[in-house]
Amino acid sequence: MALLEIPRTGRDADSIVADLEAFRQGDVGWKEGKVFSLVYNAGDAHTELLKRAHNAFFSENGLNPMAFKSLQRMEAELVRMTATMLHGGPGVVGTLTSGGTESILLAVKAARERGKKKGIRNPEMVVPRSVHVAFDKAAHYLGVKIRHVALAGDYRVDTRALARAITRSTVLIAASAPQYPHGVIDPIEPIAALARSHDIAFHVDSCIGGFVLPWIEGLGYPVPPWDFRVDGVTSISADLHKYGYAAKGASVLVYRDMSYLKHQFFVATDWPGGIYASPTMPGTRPGGAIAAAWAAVHGMGQDGYLRHARRAMEARAELLAGLRAIPELRVLGEPQSTIVAYASRSRDVDIYAVADALEDRGWSVDRQQRPDSIHCTLMSAHRDIMGSYLADLREAVAHVRSHPELKSRGNAAMYGMMAKVPFRGMVRSATMKFMESMYGPGGASPDLSAVSEGQGPLMRAVNRYGPRALHALDQLKSRLDEARKRLLRREG
Ligand SMILES: Cc1ncc(COP(=O)(O)O)c(C=O)c1O
Repeated sequence: MALLEIPRTGRDADSIVADLEAFRQGDVGWKEGKVFSLVYNAGDAHTELLKRAHNAFFSENGLNPMAFKSLQRMEAELVRMTATMLHGGPGVVGTLTSGGTESILLAVKAARERGKKKGIRNPEMVVPRSVHVAFDKAAHYLGVKIRHVALAGDYRVDTRALARAITRSTVLIAASAPQYPHGVIDPIEPIAALARSHDIAFHVDSCIGGFVLPWIEGLGYPVPPWDFRVDGVTSISADLHKYGYAAKGASVLVYRDMSYLKHQFFVATDWPGGIYASPTMPGTRPGGAIAAAWAAVHGMGQDGYLRHARRAMEARAELLAGLRAIPELRVLGEPQSTIVAYASRSRDVDIYAVADALEDRGWSVDRQQRPDSIHCTLMSAHRDIMGSYLADLREAVAHVRSHPELKSRGNAAMYGMMAKVPFRGMVRSATMKFMESMYGPGGASPDLSAVSEGQGPLMRAVNRYGPRALHALDQLKSRLDEARKRLLRREG
C-alpha cells in the first residue's frame, strides 16, 4: 500500500460522517437481527438512551476518580447493583472493567498475587476445556500455567477430572455460567466445595450469563446455583455490554470480599509522575462507557431485563423446536440459558457448508470446532426473526445435501481443514500468517477461502485421518499429564 499520511487540511464534518457511513457497506446487518453475537441490541429507544449518556460523558476520564466523582459514583453503584443481583452480601466488592476479557485477566492476576502471598512460585490454574479463551490469554500474558480439564458427555466439565488436575501450585479454579460454546452451566456447587477445601480462589465466568441468568431464574426456568449463594465462589465476572445491554466497554468484576480484590490493584510509589494507583488494566478509562452502562441499567430496570430475557428464551424455544425438526441436525447438550449450538448428524451434510449457505442468505454465522458446529447467542431481537432464520436454515441444509461438493469449497473447506489438522502448530502458524497479512503494511482483509485452494491430497488426508489423530493426540496429552503428576506426587 502507498504511504498514507494524515490529510494536510481538515475538512467539513458532513463529508467525514458520509465517508464513515459508506465504510459500513460490507458490515453485517446487526440491526436486522442477522447477527448472533457481537451486538446486543435492545431496540432503537434504548440505543438512543445509551448514545445520550455516552455523549454526556464523552470527555470525562475515570483514570482519576477524585477528579470525576460522578464516574466514581456510577462505578460504585453499578458494582453494588451487580453484587445484589448476584446475591452477594454487603462485603462484596469489585470494579468496572472494559469487558469480559479484562475482567478475566484481572481475576487471574488477583489469584496469582494471592497465591504468591501463600508462597506459590509457579502458579497454575485449572479450567474446563470449554472455558472462554480469555483464560488462555491470561495464562499467556501473566505467566500462569493453564490446565484444561475434559468435558463430560453433557459438555459440562468433568468434576472428577478437575479435582485430579489440582496441584499444590493451583492458585485459581475457573468455571462458567454458562460456558460460551454450548450454553451449559458447569457444576458450580461441587467445584466450589473443592476450591474451598483447598483454599483456592474460584472464579465463575458469567460474562455472558451474568445479566441474563438471574432474570431467566426469575421467570421460573430451572437454573442451578452458580452465584454468590454458593459458598466457595470467590469472584464473578458479568458483562454489562452483553445482556446488560450497555454500550461496548463495560463489564463488572466482583469478589466475595476485599481480601481477594486487593490483589487486583496496582500501585507504583516511585514514579516521577507521582504516586500512581490503578484498580484495573487501562490507564485512561472512558467516561462514556461508564455513563452509558449506568444509563443502561436504569433504562432497563428489572422489568426491562425480565422482558428481554423472556423474549430471548422464547426465541431459544422456537430455535430448539425448529432444529429438532430437521433430521440432519442435532443440538449439542441441553442448553441452560440463551445459547444454542448445533451440529450435523448426517454424513451428507457438512455443517460448515451449511454455515456458508446461511451466510449466502445474509446471516452472520459463528462456527465452532470439536465438534464442528454452529453457535447462536439468542437475544430479544431474535424473537421476531426466528421464523425466517429457520426457513433459511431448512433451505441451507437441503441445498448442502444436494451439493455434497460444497464441503470442499470456500470457507467450508478452510474451516473443515483447520478444525481437523492434528498438528495444531500448523493451524497456529497459518492463523499467525492471517494476522500478519491483516496487520501488515498492506492492511488487507485476508481471503479465508484461499487456504483451501491448495487442497488436493493433504486436504483429503486431513479430512480422513485428522479427527482420529486429534483424538489420539488429546488422549496422549492427558495421559502424559497424569503420569507427570503421579511422578511429582511420588517425589513430593
Ligand atoms: C463466557 C464468556 N467469557 C468471556 C467473554 C469475553 O468477553 P469480551 O469479548 O467482552 O472480552 C465472552 C465473550 O463472548 C464469553 O462468552
